[in-house]
Amino acid sequence: MGAGGSGVFVVVEGPEGAGKSTLVRSLAARLQAEGRPVVTVREPGGTPVAEAARKVVLKFPHDMTPAAELFLFLTARTDLVQRVIRPALEAGDVVIADRYNLSTMAYQVAGGGLPFDEVEQAIRLATGGLVPDVTLVLDIPVAVGRERQRAARKVQDRFERQDDAFHRRVLEAYRHAQGPGVVHVDATQSKKAVLDAAWKEVLAATALPIRGSS
Ligand code: TYD
Repeated sequence: MGAGGSGVFVVVEGPEGAGKSTLVRSLAARLQAEGRPVVTVREPGGTPVAEAARKVVLKFPHDMTPAAELFLFLTARTDLVQRVIRPALEAGDVVIADRYNLSTMAYQVAGGGLPFDEVEQAIRLATGGLVPDVTLVLDIPVAVGRERQRAARKVQDRFERQDDAFHRRVLEAYRHAQGPGVVHVDATQSKKAVLDAAWKEVLAATALPIRGSS
């Protein structure tokens, strides 16, 4: 099922420290320079409900089950899809999201051990089946990504504090991701090389006058 509009939905995914937010900003700037209206979002977040869920799921100081995490992430996602992403796609905008469904499959299924099929169904319910046209999966070894993060940030969230084994499962899940519109990009390259590789994919998708559905 697609968005039903003429916009294009681009998602940037990958493990911690892969450079997703930098890439989202650079892609948005290039699209704007080309005259394409762009909306950027970051998950979890982007609406009052989603920001409230974000605060709990990332900052809650006690243990939480992976299923509790799942429903908090999906609370955030359903609100963002309904209030921001779908309306933007229906208006013909390009939407670029920093994380979406693949994060849930990587962190809550591969990382947290939840069952794939049930999570997939829950995601479908939360998103109404909205899937990206392009998913750019940034690939970076766990140690490199975590070191980049350590260098850049002071306070770690609950997921960044997980052990290396968890982060290796997350990375493996990303590496195995495949499907319509999924493209893997080597994030150890220079920022410019990453942007150029991503841009090629986004151009191909945004050149289509009417978005496809899947
Ligand atoms: P954030 O600081 O927003 O972003 P990033 O780490 O991408 O710079 O942290 C979001 C965290 O939430 C990140 O550790 C991944 C995790 N996450 C999930 O576990 N499941 C999800 O479905 C999403 C969207 C994020």
